[in-house]
Amino acid sequence: MTDIPDRPAIRTLIDVDPAKAQQVAVLRAQAASDPESFWLDQARRIEWATFPTTASNATFDGDVSIRWFEDGVLNASVSCLDRHLSTRGDEAALIWQADDTAVSRTLTFRDLHAEVCRLANALRSLGVKRGDRVAIHLPMVVEGIASMLACARIGAVHVVLFGGFSPEGIAERLIDSGAVTVITCDTSRRGAKRIQHKTSIDAALKQAGTICSVRNIIVVTVTGDTIPMTEGRDHRYDVLVPQQSPACEPEKMRAEDILFLLYTSGSTGKPKAMVHTTGGYMVWAACTTDWALSLKPQDVHWCTADIAWITGHTYVVYGPFATGATTVIYEGMLGWPQPGRWWEIIDRYQVACLYTAPTAIRALIREGDAVPERYSLASLRRLACAGEPISPDAWEWFYNVVGHQRCPVADMWWQTETGGGMLCLIPDAQPMKPGWATTPLPGLNAVLTTEKGETIPDGPAEGALCFTTSWPGQARTIWDDHKRFRETCFTFSPGKYFAGDGARRDENGYYMITGRMDDVINVSGHRIGTAEIEDAVATCHAISEAAAVGINHDLKGQGIVVFVVARSSKTAPSVALLSGIIADRVGRYAAPELIYIVSDIPKTRSGKIVRRVLRKIASGETENLGDLSSLADPAVVPALIKAVTEQNADT
Ligand code: PRX
Repeated sequence: MTDIPDRPAIRTLIDVDPAKAQQVAVLRAQAASDPESFWLDQARRIEWATFPTTASNATFDGDVSIRWFEDGVLNASVSCLDRHLSTRGDEAALIWQADDTAVSRTLTFRDLHAEVCRLANALRSLGVKRGDRVAIHLPMVVEGIASMLACARIGAVHVVLFGGFSPEGIAERLIDSGAVTVITCDTSRRGAKRIQHKTSIDAALKQAGTICSVRNIIVVTVTGDTIPMTEGRDHRYDVLVPQQSPACEPEKMRAEDILFLLYTSGSTGKPKAMVHTTGGYMVWAACTTDWALSLKPQDVHWCTADIAWITGHTYVVYGPFATGATTVIYEGMLGWPQPGRWWEIIDRYQVACLYTAPTAIRALIREGDAVPERYSLASLRRLACAGEPISPDAWEWFYNVVGHQRCPVADMWWQTETGGGMLCLIPDAQPMKPGWATTPLPGLNAVLTTEKGETIPDGPAEGALCFTTSWPGQARTIWDDHKRFRETCFTFSPGKYFAGDGARRDENGYYMITGRMDDVINVSGHRIGTAEIEDAVATCHAISEAAAVGINHDLKGQGIVVFVVARSSKTAPSVALLSGIIADRVGRYAAPELIYIVSDIPKTRSGKIVRRVLRKIASGETENLGDLSSLADPAVVPALIKAVTEQNADT
């Protein structure tokens, strides 16, 4: 666990509303005394074709089985679109702001419904059936959101892939998910650069070869760049979709039918696809959007996350649309083409709720207070952030400079595995504490355990964050690998869900996340497993061993440092070559800060890499490296420090 700096004490800042606090107390009491009726009440937040008669059927013991609202029948796209047609049909559902300030597009609920139905019919015309997987590899454009909802409409399972994945990373995920269709675009803009989408998909399919099941590719025109098209397999969105009917009967899905797969990184092995099912996920998205963001149908909401991450799924798409709010998406980059771009968007669209990540807040702080001060920001009512710990300083800046001390800040702790927020402030019902993720949301049972998995009694403590009971949004399994799901999440403390994070709890039951306890590195909110980096580097024949660790980074939260051992000092590969291999095999987002070529890596007698020592050396510490007695060869450490010092002097 990381060292914990002193944190400021609890501060009320914005007054707590006694009526709201009382409402939340009643909810919590109901959840504790009668969880079944509590969860069935929450299920009413979304539309069902058949309302479920039972809530939870979940056990974390034995083989682990998680099922919610089992006899309910629904379609997620109906909760997001159809249910709003009579009340908000002509109101804005989605506002797309292009990279170019002068270009934007607003779709009403009726427009978006029609677009989703046309695309759903187009997918059906290509033979996509209920249960088939459809990969989506798009930037932040209307078609990305329409694609997710169109899959939901016909019961296909969407698998959104991050634009930054390398062709190899895409190929791995296309094979693993068994996707039959890909929805992508020509290219997309990233500031002055272009991201290659179609050619990356082509390269991925070539690498995947015959094991890949992709039969069709739908190509959206985003930039108009010329791209190769393969006759019979590739279809232009602009040609295929407009000719379809704007009506599409929603597929009736069972609550436990899969809504989507989403890849994330674990501490070992390849990226894993978390399985989220329809009923429970939708209920949890709706609950948490209400509790943590207090979103109302008339609100304009902007969550800056990419749809390729779970935050984009839950708080760009499913939560806000289930609420009937207006969602803003922005094609461009933070601070591009001018540093005040985000603030301009907030003023232009009168954004009420801004949800972003600490890494973005740190980048915005760097631009100076004068930038946001040039804008009104008077429309903002709520602020939220998630993805990594937010320092009290960054929290204060967000609260003071962006929120003008008027908007509660919800620091939401959660994971791809949890489907929606877990530890979070309920605005107006609780006092805020900068840097603390506050308390478990209603219905959740969080505990801290020792490193041996024993429960620590209530009260101030520090330990491993676990949950003793299930909640509707919980991932059901890892696609095609239930054993890995069980082993990673439920064996640390048998009978409990282990999140992989360490946390501290104070006397008020508030939690502060202290960081990952496993080998996952969080770079700008992107989860990267050390094994992914090490496996990539190991493909270089000149390397015999590699170890990646995370170090503190002012802007990114964490940065990656890699130690590599060359087979021979004469043929040691260059740092540039190794960086290139990581970019090719994992993606540019996993680029290390530093790569050190060393003669050996510290290991235990059983051959396990001792990362705590590497982390300290990578952070510039040469003394107080902790207990080295468990090392197979303690002499490795001084040699390592010497090599690192010499290489630092050279650069
Ligand atoms: O370590 C925690 C960190 O991000 C991890 C989950 O990442 P991911 O699956 O990509 O989901 C992101 C959803 C926000 C967690 O295990 N993390 C997430 N939120 C916070 C956080 N760490 C501290 N504070 C948070 N609010």
